[in-house]
Amino acid sequence: MSPHGSGNARPLALVVLAAGKGTRLTATEDTPPKVLVECLGVPLIEHLRRAVSRLGPTRTAVVTGHKAEIVDAWLGEHWPEATPVLQQPQLGTGHALQLAMAAIPDFEGDVVVVYGDVPQLSPSDLELLLRRHRELAADATVLTGITDDPHALGRILRYEDGRFCRIVEAKDAADRPEILAIKEFNSGIYAFDARTLRPAIAALTSDNAQGELYATDAVRHIADAGNRVALVVAQHPDALRGVNDWAELADAYGLLRRRIAADHMSRGVTIVDPDTTVIEADVQIEAGARILPFTYIERGCKIGRGAEVGPYARLRGKAVLEAGAQIGNFVEVKNSHIGPGAKAKHLTYLGDASVGDGANVGCGVITANYDGKNKHKTEIGPRASIGSGTVLVAPVKVGDGGTTGANAVVTAGKDVPPGATVVGVPARVLGETREPKAASDTEEAAG
Ligand code: UD1
Ligand code: CA
Repeated sequence: MSPHGSGNARPLALVVLAAGKGTRLTATEDTPPKVLVECLGVPLIEHLRRAVSRLGPTRTAVVTGHKAEIVDAWLGEHWPEATPVLQQPQLGTGHALQLAMAAIPDFEGDVVVVYGDVPQLSPSDLELLLRRHRELAADATVLTGITDDPHALGRILRYEDGRFCRIVEAKDAADRPEILAIKEFNSGIYAFDARTLRPAIAALTSDNAQGELYATDAVRHIADAGNRVALVVAQHPDALRGVNDWAELADAYGLLRRRIAADHMSRGVTIVDPDTTVIEADVQIEAGARILPFTYIERGCKIGRGAEVGPYARLRGKAVLEAGAQIGNFVEVKNSHIGPGAKAKHLTYLGDASVGDGANVGCGVITANYDGKNKHKTEIGPRASIGSGTVLVAPVKVGDGGTTGANAVVTAGKDVPPGATVVGVPARVLGETREPKAASDTEEAAG
């Protein structure tokens, strides 16, 4: 048996480096720390948390520094298993790694290190890294990627026989075109044996272009000491580039968006054009639903079987569409419940509303939910028919089977009784006795 034992029996610690300032992304003082910048409804570090949690670590240390109080508060709420480790000042990735290992002094086993700015990391590549590390019983294993344009990323130098030599930062190779020409880059994701890692990080020095301690040099020390360093080439190199500036954030967004869409499609959801459809994280869509192009669905929304959304629809605020509901073009649904088979097909705003089974909401209907201070609810009963251009001033209810005429303005509290039809501005029930008026004023109500 290998010294690493078999499978998952060996303990695993996870170290996430997230203390850096993110200078290239932090535009102003009030920009959140880089790892908390949102992408598809959740912060970058949440995407990473989901990818790395699948490894099932027994210990997790997250190194924070820049705006640490904000990141630590987030960790406390969303990643309670993680121990925050303060790095102040930030003297480089190697320094961050030293502090993380000092926070788990008695740990023995495998240590997977990831940089906090790689949210789009593919879980399968991460699993591949750890599997190969264990199969090869390596002391250090580096996940690498191959790309035509590694740009600012660290380059992997191999000996002629393919063995690992060292990692050279682009900044340290400014006058070495032959190094910059190397297409294999360091992802910043590694697996180490804790026993070999500890002496290797103790030996780090800052004699480089950035005057920092580099985690990459730990790998070199391990190799130079005659220990075994393995290189694993990732299957999804684009997912390893990291987010350092706004353009890379947009790349990560595109990748994560396509991955979320692919996941829904694999479970039986039709997404006609994933390139023009945005579905954020944590949206539940049942098999058999259809999402048409140019649709934006925010985090927390739920869509039932056979429902249809779009084209050009926006769902937000935890909107729920029951089975067979239809939301069409230029319809915004916010914090609303749309019952089975209910429809709102054109140019409509449904906010803080509930729409009953089979109700039909006509073109250009507005729930006026906000009075300038507070939000109020609109209830549209089952099988109700809301005429085109109706404004429902909340709080208001339309009873079961109630109807509003075109352009009716149903004012707050003037509920439409079940089965009744209301018309006009302000809306009144058709056929109801009108208030007595001066004789000269008498005129029939419009039909
Ligand atoms: C690093 C690697 C580079 C690799 C690239 C992959 C080093 C020296 N270089 O470069 O080889 O190709 O990542 O994305 O490791 N951090 C801290 N404390 C610090 C400095 C950084 O926690 O003192 C964190 C940052 O928050 C970030 C991560 O470490 O999440 C990487 O730091 P960054 O400055 O982005 O390194 P790169 O220049 O991208
Ligand atoms: Ca980086």
